[in-house]
Amino acid sequence: MEVEKRPESMERITTAALAEAFIAEQVEAVRKQVGDKKVLLALSGGVDSSVVAALLIKAVGKQLVCVHVNHGLLRKGEPEQVVEVFGKQMDANLVYVDASERFLGKLEGVSDPEKKRKIIGAEFIRVFEEEARKLSGIKFLAQGTIYPDIIESDKVKAHHNVGGLPEDLDFELVEPLKFLYKDEVRVVGTALGLPASMVYRQPFPGPGLGVRCLGAITRDRLEAVRESDAILREEFAKNGLEGKVWQYFTVVPDFRSVGVKNGTRTFEYPVIIRAVNTTDAMTATIEEVPYALLNHITDRITKEVKGVNRVLYDLTPKPCGTIEWE
Ligand code: XMP
Repeated sequence: MEVEKRPESMERITTAALAEAFIAEQVEAVRKQVGDKKVLLALSGGVDSSVVAALLIKAVGKQLVCVHVNHGLLRKGEPEQVVEVFGKQMDANLVYVDASERFLGKLEGVSDPEKKRKIIGAEFIRVFEEEARKLSGIKFLAQGTIYPDIIESDKVKAHHNVGGLPEDLDFELVEPLKFLYKDEVRVVGTALGLPASMVYRQPFPGPGLGVRCLGAITRDRLEAVRESDAILREEFAKNGLEGKVWQYFTVVPDFRSVGVKNGTRTFEYPVIIRAVNTTDAMTATIEEVPYALLNHITDRITKEVKGVNRVLYDLTPKPCGTIEWE
């Protein structure tokens, strides 16, 4: 299949003025493409889908229907931010689906990482399809495809790229960002008024915390991942590491170790911290997080996160470790 090429005349979008010009052009193009018809978008809250949403809200307002599927594996505060920014501030037509129980049910007892990914991806499409069928008169499907997704077509975009819908849900695609690089998407998102925490956030895998709660997902360990991740992000932000370190997160394995808390023996889970730098995610180096900060984070996690008695720092570069643990 012929790969679509970015027009050679297209200037790199590096300033607010260039972003405004791009937005004006795309608003016009989208209006022309969709007319008075409805457009559907799976809005994960990630950079690309959020920027597409903001752009389409500007172009066609309530003709855009955003569906946010909360699979229960999102980071702390993420679904709330989607509702706040798109539902409230931008007054979008937003359908919020809390499918957490459904996903956790399907994942129960499944420990194989690839099986977990497949279940999450398939279930996501199923939930999205159900929502699409409830809505009538949808003709278009918007997607946050960006240029690297096209040129690196061997790399499949997160399952949020709803590529697997059945044939009868045969929508025409709206892909306003398809010739943009990530840095350009961020400049455009900022010009559209999206918060920096959304536009500049670190990459987050489609299967979410599901691949950081190792082995068969349990609610207690999933909460431990979510809470420890929130502490890590809060401390990195406070200490000037947000936006500097490429990706950082916590992982909770499915084994426990002996510890002692308040003079009592404990048998609880460890939390593993990973903080890496990379340019293309093919290789990665380890961030040299100051020791005092690591100590402070360890202290907070062991005191504040239920069921955790130990914190480890992963010193493994890629290769030979991948960035994620599963
Ligand atoms: P690895 O673990 O392969 O990760 O070194 C490289 C980058 O890809 C992200 N990643 C994923 N993203 N769906 C995604 O959308 C996935 O299943 C997935 N697995 C890994 C990872 O977070 C890192 O940025």
